[in-house]
Amino acid sequence: MAFERVGVVGLGTMGAGIAEVFARARLRVIGVEADAEALARGRGHLERSTGRAVDKGKLTADERDEILGRVTLTTSRTDLRDADLVVEAIPEILDYKVSLFKDLDGICKPETVLATNTSSLSVTAVAAATGRPGRVVGMHFFNPAPVMRLVEVVGTVVTEPGVVREIAELAGRLGKTAVAVGDRAGFVVNRLLLPYLNHATALMEQGVAGRDDIDAAMRLGVGLPMGPFALLDLIGLDTAYEVMGVLFDETRDRRHAPSPLLRELVTAGLLGRKSGRGFYGEEPARAEDRQRSEVVAFDVTGPGADELVERLSAAGFKRSADADADADAGAGAAGVVLRLADRPVIEHAVRLRDPATMVGVHLVGDRVAELATTVLTSDEAARAAADLVTVAGLVPVPCKDRAGFVVDALLFPYLNDAVRMHDAGYASIDDIDAAMRLGCGYLAGPFETLESLGLARVRDGLRALYAEYREPSFAPAPLLDQLVTAGASEFPRR
Ligand code: CAA
Repeated sequence: MAFERVGVVGLGTMGAGIAEVFARARLRVIGVEADAEALARGRGHLERSTGRAVDKGKLTADERDEILGRVTLTTSRTDLRDADLVVEAIPEILDYKVSLFKDLDGICKPETVLATNTSSLSVTAVAAATGRPGRVVGMHFFNPAPVMRLVEVVGTVVTEPGVVREIAELAGRLGKTAVAVGDRAGFVVNRLLLPYLNHATALMEQGVAGRDDIDAAMRLGVGLPMGPFALLDLIGLDTAYEVMGVLFDETRDRRHAPSPLLRELVTAGLLGRKSGRGFYGEEPARAEDRQRSEVVAFDVTGPGADELVERLSAAGFKRSADADADADAGAGAAGVVLRLADRPVIEHAVRLRDPATMVGVHLVGDRVAELATTVLTSDEAARAAADLVTVAGLVPVPCKDRAGFVVDALLFPYLNDAVRMHDAGYASIDDIDAAMRLGCGYLAGPFETLESLGLARVRDGLRALYAEYREPSFAPAPLLDQLVTAGASEFPRR
């Protein structure tokens, strides 16, 4: 089927972005909103987004006019009668969607494909509400739709196979890559992404680390385009909350229960970028009021200490004289003992003459140093550690002395989830990797990340997380465990 006239119902952030994507690909678009006010907001989204592209020199003014000229805006659904495809992007409430699809089924010609951009709701439930379930699919775009290169095409048990193929081809015409998947809550990307975002809010609530520090660790340490809180603000906290709820309903995994903090923010109307404030926004600029530490001497222990010692010595700090041994190191003289570790350091701290001087250091990539303070660490030692690593050119991420600190605690369960997803037969390794790279702008997909970190390291890290938090889904996926036991360094791709 040739898709030339496309309807988009709902012109919020996602719907307007989707309309822009179609119009840029030279399709004619009919954008539908509930009332004149919502329509004006939708027009505003389209004008701002394309206006920004003109300002940046990515589009000429004429091209922008052509794009906008291909979009007709209306409040009348009956204007969709000749559309070849209608994509729905209304709020994530199943009843609304079911009622809309019933309506569209009556309005549109029989061959029209009806697609939902739902993030997680059942495409099957929406399809079953129509007299054409074989021509109903999920067509899931990612925020910001004009930028992110993935479309998840969701087929149900009743979708005609040809329709999934046609929509995947259309995604290619839009400059996107399609990954075809079955109808499971969250599909590939949200099923892997949202639990990680939810977990980040839990770590913050537990006081393991602060908002800015968690964001910095994941952005600068892991190389993600955004930290979890900045991304939650982009996605919309209400959307994230809804998706988590749907995931929880399907899995009953308590990691998928939306965090109480999300609920509180959503109830308060703090929805992220779309409402002007979420985890970020409207906060007074923070004065740089951190007291500098007086400590100039340090000690470094643990595996790989030499490189950090070199960096700190080059920055003018003095290693304390009696530095070498782990136990009974000269902590008193040093003021701060940095213990390089990827596990909690309290057991090392209690072996020092002065346990208050120990701070755990976990280097993440070449820019971030997680600084783990134990229940015994003094404020002065914590400040000194932050000063030391800052002068050594690293970004300090203060955190509690807990398994996985921040980065491994967030990253490893996500990798484990990807292994389980593949092992359950839901999606191939290549599709999962592509989906995370293109849908979230990651440099590497989860399997690529697992292989570069080392399967054994991730497996062992998961065991440590499981041992500490006793969270059943932190236990290493059996496939990962078996590959490590078999001495494999890669996942078999069949
Ligand atoms: N609309 C249109 N274009 C936009 C845009 C928007 N809202 N935001 C950014 N852009 C464009 C910019 O114009 C720019 O384009 P050019 O390179 O052509 O100039 C490009 O994106 C990069 O933008 P910036 O330089 O301003 O900013 P950046 O480099 O920080 O990138 C980002 C911004 C693209 C959003 C990047 O941070 C990123 O990829 N973040 C991850 C986003 C993500 O994970 N999305 C998926 C969320 S999950 C989801 O959506 C599914 C769901 O159902 C919940």
